[in-house]
Amino acid sequence: MKAKFITLDGIDGAGKSTNLNTIRLWFEQHQLPVLFTREPGGTAVGEALRQILLDPHTEVNARTETLLMFAARQQHLDSVIKPALAAGTHVVSDRFTDATFAYQGGGRDIPLSDIAVLENWVQQGLHPDLTLLLDIPLTVAQQRLAQNEHPDRFEQLDNDFFERTRQTYLNRAASAPERYRVIQSDQPLTDVAAQISHSLSQLFGYHS
Ligand SMILES: Nc1ncnc2c1ncn2[C@@H]1O[C@H](COP(=O)(O)OP(=O)(O)OP(=O)(O)O)[C@@H](O)[C@H]1O
Ligand SMILES: [Mg+2]
Repeated sequence: MKAKFITLDGIDGAGKSTNLNTIRLWFEQHQLPVLFTREPGGTAVGEALRQILLDPHTEVNARTETLLMFAARQQHLDSVIKPALAAGTHVVSDRFTDATFAYQGGGRDIPLSDIAVLENWVQQGLHPDLTLLLDIPLTVAQQRLAQNEHPDRFEQLDNDFFERTRQTYLNRAASAPERYRVIQSDQPLTDVAAQISHSLSQLFGYHS
């Protein structure tokens, strides 16, 4: 079986990191090798760029932000994602290029066509086999993030930014339904887990 590349995406507070555990359990149950990673990050240079990108006190303009995201992604693809897939290990990434389309494109108004140019240059045709888009209404995301005493540079942005970001994610999912599964993640965790497990079972051709 060719190793699969699975990404989790959605606005801040959608539950991506929380639901990694469900995915971990699913892979354990099915005894399949898997590597978990995240963006921006996943490599030494990527984690250093993540620090810069999330620091609320560092000024980064929208084009620089976009380029830094893709710089981190290039390293991540070359030194982590592609070698793992080549070795037959499935890869699960907490965020990937959909986040750049949604945040820098939808949120910050970088033309989506410019992001697509960078996507092609960096990814050379490699795309996720499945993207789980965790979707929640903004009001729910805000309630969840309100618990966080130290919001990062993105978590401090306003409602309009997150509305545009959420909408861009949903538009992308609607335009390629074979690759995306939209997960209603404002439900209780067990219900979210059931949706995610079902999507994974479908991808791997198991009945669930
Ligand atoms: N289904 C759920 N029901 C209730 N609370 C949830 C649910 N899913 C996640 N949460 C809570 O919402 C908060 C945000 O979740 P999480 O950190 O997983 O989001 P995230 O998508 O990874 O956000 P970020 O993009 O900021 O990393 C956490 O406090 C988590 O416990
Ligand atoms: Mg997270």
